[in-house]
Amino acid sequence: MSTLINVVSLPIMDRILAYIETKLESEMKVHPFIQWLVPSSEETSETAEKKLKSWIPCMVNFIMGFKDMNQSVLCYPETEANIDPLKAAINEHCKEDGNHWPWLLMDLKTLNLNPDTDWVTLIKFLWGSQTVGQRGAIYDFVRIVQKLQNPLLRLCFICTVEIYGHVMLSTTTELANIIEKETGKKLHYFGQTHLRHEEGHFHCSPTAENAKKEAWTRPLSEEDFEVGIGGVDEAIRIINNMFSELHEFALSSSSEKQA
Ligand SMILES: [Fe+2]
Repeated sequence: MSTLINVVSLPIMDRILAYIETKLESEMKVHPFIQWLVPSSEETSETAEKKLKSWIPCMVNFIMGFKDMNQSVLCYPETEANIDPLKAAINEHCKEDGNHWPWLLMDLKTLNLNPDTDWVTLIKFLWGSQTVGQRGAIYDFVRIVQKLQNPLLRLCFICTVEIYGHVMLSTTTELANIIEKETGKKLHYFGQTHLRHEEGHFHCSPTAENAKKEAWTRPLSEEDFEVGIGGVDEAIRIINNMFSELHEFALSSSSEKQA
């Protein structure tokens, strides 16, 4: 928080964004999962594919829950969006980000992670103890979003998730590029297709982008600031836990294969 005290003269939204950036540098980029994902100088398509396949199944529940959250929780009712351009811009973002999940299905097929399996095995896995952090992340996100009724504060939450997602996708795209270059196999959710759609952290048309800019300096109280920062902190804690679970899953599935 000391960084924020130094930028206290900035609009509150800029102060919150500065806070997210600080956390990004101090926590996210150095998370063991991200460090482990970064391709080594000896990375080949074979090792890159093995690395991705070792944790993607664990994340399926989160990705599909993220679709639902965007489509039914993060967005505002149309009646509210019709009278607030920022809410309309957020809805536009949700519509786009809530429709990235088909790329996951494509990648599951490309990586041969779509074996014939029975329903009971699949359900036990998706709702089992190994993936509890991925499911819990969505429930916790929903709880946070419901507290953030002010669209500016909700935007802070979106920015946090998107900025963190961008770091992860940039890293998986490096691996996907190695796979594509050596084998011709193209990944979409974990490769360039998704990354290109996530460049600006907020998906919207120029009109919606203008609405966001206009709203940026809307007055916010110090109390709002604390609520916004609280949402950001909670989102970061949840994402860090998710990454720890993915990392643990990856390491245990790799060692199981070697045993
Ligand atoms: Fe996305």
